[in-house]
Amino acid sequence: ARIVVLVSGSGTNLQALLDAIAARGAEEYGAEIVAVGADRGAIAGLERAEKAGLPTFVCRVKDHGSRAEWDAALTAATAAYEPDLVVSAGFMKILGKEFLARFGGRIVNTHPALLPSFPGAHGVRDALAYGAKVTGCTVHFVDDGVDTGPIIAQSVVEIRDEDDEAALHERIKEVERSLLVEVVGHLARHGYRIEGRKVRIS
Ligand code: GRF
Repeated sequence: ARIVVLVSGSGTNLQALLDAIAARGAEEYGAEIVAVGADRGAIAGLERAEKAGLPTFVCRVKDHGSRAEWDAALTAATAAYEPDLVVSAGFMKILGKEFLARFGGRIVNTHPALLPSFPGAHGVRDALAYGAKVTGCTVHFVDDGVDTGPIIAQSVVEIRDEDDEAALHERIKEVERSLLVEVVGHLARHGYRIEGRKVRIS
């Protein structure tokens, strides 16, 4: 499968995918990353992509007249690489209508909380502030809501009394990276169907 990865930050999830593909070989893993896109420049995620010799593209909202034009540009830039799957790995923008129409059912996102609890941009902080005893990460398909699409897999992380947001997020990211690598490879190798909220892996 051909994968385009979208990032907004440090790109450690992207790196985990790159490392898995390098270690196992694209054929055995079942997928190759064909390009990496971002909504901002000068981020470690893009550097990781360049280091791996991958093409990159940047689509900034502020370079476009409207959110719809940005959506169209991101859709076109992504479509140029003909992906079978799009992986949103720490991509901090809500994908637009055109992007969803084009790639719907093929966009995988990773979220640092156990959905449907704590959706949105502050999933780690919100779980901590709520006083939850466990949280974790969720890999799911993207639909037109915020972190509401069909869940593919989740991992649990215990919250410790001494945790602050950074420490907790670090422990979540450790399990998140392996879960994402496992799920993406699995989807790519085995194929899948989305039936309502259920993801059936063949
Ligand atoms: C991940 O925890 C992701 O779920 C969240 O932001 C983090 C991205 O980390 N939305 P990285 O850029 O992959 O290192």
